[in-house]
Amino acid sequence: MDGGNVRVQLRVLMVVIGMMMMVVGRVTSQDYEDALTKSILFFEGQRSGRLPPSQRMTWRKDSALNDGTGSNVDLVGGYYDAGDNVKFNFPMAFTTTLLAWSVLEFGQFMGSDLQHALDAIRWGTDYFLKATSIPGTVFAIVGDPYGDHSCWQRPEDMDTPRTSYAVTTTNPGSEVSAEMAAALAASSMALQASDAQYSLTLLNRAAMVFDFADMYRGSYNDVFGALVCPYYYCDGSGYADELIWAAAWLYKATNNQSYWDYVLKHINNLPQYIKRMDTDGMPVSGGSFAEFGWDSKHAGINILVSKLVIDRQLNPSPFVLNADKFACSILPESPTKSVAYSPGGLLFKPGSCNMQHVTALSFLLLVYSHYSNDAQRGIQCDNFAVSPSRLVQIAQSQVDYILGKNPLGMSYMVGYGNSFPQRIHHRASSLPSMDAYPAHIDCQGGSQYFETENPNQNLLIGAVVGGPAADDSYVDFRTDVSQSEPITYINAPLVGALAYFKAFPSS
Ligand SMILES: *[C@@H]1O[C@H](CO)[C@@H](O)[C@H](O)[C@H]1NC(C)=O
Repeated sequence: MDGGNVRVQLRVLMVVIGMMMMVVGRVTSQDYEDALTKSILFFEGQRSGRLPPSQRMTWRKDSALNDGTGSNVDLVGGYYDAGDNVKFNFPMAFTTTLLAWSVLEFGQFMGSDLQHALDAIRWGTDYFLKATSIPGTVFAIVGDPYGDHSCWQRPEDMDTPRTSYAVTTTNPGSEVSAEMAAALAASSMALQASDAQYSLTLLNRAAMVFDFADMYRGSYNDVFGALVCPYYYCDGSGYADELIWAAAWLYKATNNQSYWDYVLKHINNLPQYIKRMDTDGMPVSGGSFAEFGWDSKHAGINILVSKLVIDRQLNPSPFVLNADKFACSILPESPTKSVAYSPGGLLFKPGSCNMQHVTALSFLLLVYSHYSNDAQRGIQCDNFAVSPSRLVQIAQSQVDYILGKNPLGMSYMVGYGNSFPQRIHHRASSLPSMDAYPAHIDCQGGSQYFETENPNQNLLIGAVVGGPAADDSYVDFRTDVSQSEPITYINAPLVGALAYFKAFPSS
């Protein structure tokens, strides 16, 4: 055997090893681009109203075309919240704010999916323009939650009441109004480059709705009672956070000093601790800096504003310190950690639908890592420093868990990977499509599709469900609402995170 032959054999061997490593790499690393595409496609499955020719999720059809008529206003459009057919505008606005934030931070990495993300934002804002078209009135809910939840019906043939509920100057709801102002302001920035005129319309409306929310203060809990509390979307954290959140977005969008003054004037009045319900319905109290979701905006305010104070050379207190405290509340190695991790590594916070926390907090970690990198500063957790790249690592571990790197080896996104939830708690997905079964299915007629052990009839591609239990087990059945229901605000921040990891898969 001569030396040349050995070298050839060695080269062949190295090529073979290289190919094996590529195969292993493909198995263990995720197709973030595919997941991104699907995470945005999901929003088409949640659309209410008249669907456009560009609709890609074609098993869904026009629905709820008379929404608003009882109140003599056009409220057609918007999104169904989750697996039900109610339009809850408070979480819908939060979803839209986070879609816009996802585009503002990471839209440059979205490629051909950027246009679909912008369409998803506009589907929300077109509806919010309708919901706020009467000065001094903001529509907050369309559909009767109790009627809707007692039926298992397709949105296309609902015959439950489609009542519209509004907050007004005499019955105010500052949380729903201010979150809508935040959504309009954030979306005006996200849509600025593609449609400047529309963007301006959104911004003007945002300012108007914010003024209404601030001038007529009150919680919609008091207006709607059992329609929102204690089930559905009871605002537990008060409305002060939404007002500051909206003012911060308006300041970012307009650079108008009056909004910044508003943030500074009110930020120290925010409660330092807020009460939440744990999984058993018991109140738990935690530092408000660690909270972010449709109910409390605290961590989001601190992180959003931390960028503004760095860029515009403003006083960083208390925003940057609180943003650091937020990051330190997530890190597994931090002495001030306030979340739990499952044996498989998934972040857990008390309450139902855990995945909403996973995606929202992961998104914030990425955004904050981005900002801290730009400012060339580390994060300080009590007595140890944390690099921005550590925040990215945590966020990636969470995104990867969702996509299949978990003890069950399954993805929690419908249609992604080889193994994913088949029996999600979602009316439209579980019932046959209008194409497959054009006849009306009434309120109780859908029960067989709810109860069957067969998989759902339609793939709601991209839907991310509430996710596994704290021991990494998963019940793939419609009756387990907390685990098997997809919700719009689970996906919205995930869109941004997936765009980031598409661009930086091995950061
Ligand atoms: C800034 O916003 C306030 C409150 O909406 C408004 O009254 C004022 O005219 C704005 N200033 C500028 C320069 O646009």
